[in-house]
Amino acid sequence: MTAADPLSTALAELDALRDAGLSALELASTPERVEAARVEFLGQKNGRVKSAQERIKTLDPSARKAYGQRFNAVKGDLESAFEAARLRVERKTDDRGRIDVTLPGVRPRLGHRHPLTQTAEELIDLFGRIGFEVARGPEVEDVRHNFDALNIPPSHPARDPLDNFYLAVGERTSGEGPIGGDVPMLRSQTSTVQIRVMEAQKPPVRVIAIGRVYRPDTVDATHSFMFHQVEGLMVDRGVTMADLKSVLRLFARAYLGRDVTIRFRPSFFPFTEPSVEVDMLWHGGHRWVEMGGAGMVDPNVLRAVGYDPEEVTGFAFGLGIERLCMRRHAIDDIRLLYQNDVRFLRQF
Ligand code: PHE
Repeated sequence: MTAADPLSTALAELDALRDAGLSALELASTPERVEAARVEFLGQKNGRVKSAQERIKTLDPSARKAYGQRFNAVKGDLESAFEAARLRVERKTDDRGRIDVTLPGVRPRLGHRHPLTQTAEELIDLFGRIGFEVARGPEVEDVRHNFDALNIPPSHPARDPLDNFYLAVGERTSGEGPIGGDVPMLRSQTSTVQIRVMEAQKPPVRVIAIGRVYRPDTVDATHSFMFHQVEGLMVDRGVTMADLKSVLRLFARAYLGRDVTIRFRPSFFPFTEPSVEVDMLWHGGHRWVEMGGAGMVDPNVLRAVGYDPEEVTGFAFGLGIERLCMRRHAIDDIRLLYQNDVRFLRQF
C-alpha cells in the first residue's frame, strides 16, 4: 500500500468534520452556544463546511463525484443536528421564568419495528387468515433434519462443508465419508421445520415457519451469510399442485398488490417432486423476480416421518423474506437491512 490517496484523505476529513460538528452541537446547552457552533461549522463566510465545499476544486475531476456526495451527506447531517439543537435549547420561559404552555411540545421520537419484523408479522397474519399456524424449529440443527430426512443424499453437493456452517466437525480430510446425522450445524434452510412438524403430529398439517438460515455466502447487495425464510407446509388428503399455486397467488397478491402474477418454472429439490421455482411479475413490470422454491412433498419424505403417501399428499414452499421485503419497499441493497442505521430504519 502506498500513502493514502488525496480522495481518501479528503473523505476522512469530511467524516472528522461531521463528528466534530455533531458533538459541538450536541454538547451546546444554551442558545448562545448553539449559535456559536452554527457559526463555526455552518457559517456562510468562514464556516468549516464552507471550506470543505471549496476543497472540491483542488481534487482531481474523477474524485469530485464521490467527494461531492459525501459532502452533501455531511452537510445535511449537520444541518439537521443544528435544527435539533436549536429546538432543544429554545427558551420556553418568559422573562419572569414562567413556562409558556402555549408553545408546541417537543415530540419524543418513538421507535418502531424493524422492516423485516414487520414483514414476518404480516406473513403470519396473511397465512393465518387461510388457516396456517406458526411452527418453529431451532437455528442450531443437526445434519439429519437439514439433509437426511429431506431426502438429500450423502453425496449431494448441497452438503459441501464449504457451503454450510457445520459445528464441532474440526478438520476433515477427504475420503472421510459423509458427515454424520447427529452433527450439529446452523440450518441452511427452514425446510428442517417441515420434518420437525411432521415428526411431532399426524396429518392434516397446515403450518408456516419463519426464521433465520445460514450459508457462508460472500456478502454483497443481494447476498448475506444469514437471511430469513418463510417455509410453508400443507399435508392432507387430496392436496394438489393447484392448491400450492392458489395459496401462493393469494399470498403474493395480498402482500405485494392485486396486480401481481406468479408463475412456476420446473426445478429440482430432493424433498419435493415435482419441484418448481416461483417467480412473480408486477403488472407493467418487465422482469420476473424469483421468490423461492416449492413443490409437492416427495413420498420418500412422507414415508420417513411415518406418513402414508398413499393416503396423504402435500405441498411445501420456501421463500426469502428479505427479498419480499425489498420488493415491497424498493430497497436495493440487502445490507441496509442489517446495519441498523436509524436514518434508514426510520423510513418504514
Ligand atoms: N429449502 C429450499 C431452499 O432453501 C426451498 C424449498 C422449500 C423448496 C420447500 C421446495 C420446498 O432453497
